[in-house]
Amino acid sequence: MKIGIGCDHAGLELKNEIISLLGGLSIECIDYGTNSPESVDYPDFGEKVSEAVSSGGIDRGILICGTGIGMSIVANKFPRIRASLCNDLFTAKMSRLHNDANILALGGRIVGKSLAKEIVRTWVNTPFEGERHCIRLKKITQIEERLIRYESRKS
Ligand code: RB5
Repeated sequence: MKIGIGCDHAGLELKNEIISLLGGLSIECIDYGTNSPESVDYPDFGEKVSEAVSSGGIDRGILICGTGIGMSIVANKFPRIRASLCNDLFTAKMSRLHNDANILALGGRIVGKSLAKEIVRTWVNTPFEGERHCIRLKKITQIEERLIRYESRKS
């Protein structure tokens, strides 16, 4: 599994912890920045990771900002992205089992390092349950495709 990771200044410390964790789990990890504590705009980094997942260049993404909210909003603008904001273990597990989430958003100012690492471990190791959830995900894809058609007809 190839995972892309990105953050803004509020997620930098946590991003570095998670990169070490993924290395220890022998998961290939691509760092999309930011890599300095200077204030940056989270959409710039959310876009890079979301684009890479959306186009199939990487399998999944992890995005970290102060709350995780901004990053999850950005990521869910992209086709084929199912980003989930998980600042607890239960939602991390359910986002994989039921939603087949392909991007995990985390709040660097919300969760402590230990909990965040446990969330990531759970998220990377939990499979999609399939079955009835496939029908629901297909409905999401249909909504997405309909909206893309609608927007392209307008222009
Ligand atoms: C940056 O101060 C903060 O707004 C950002 O990290 C994030 O929490 C946005 O959702």
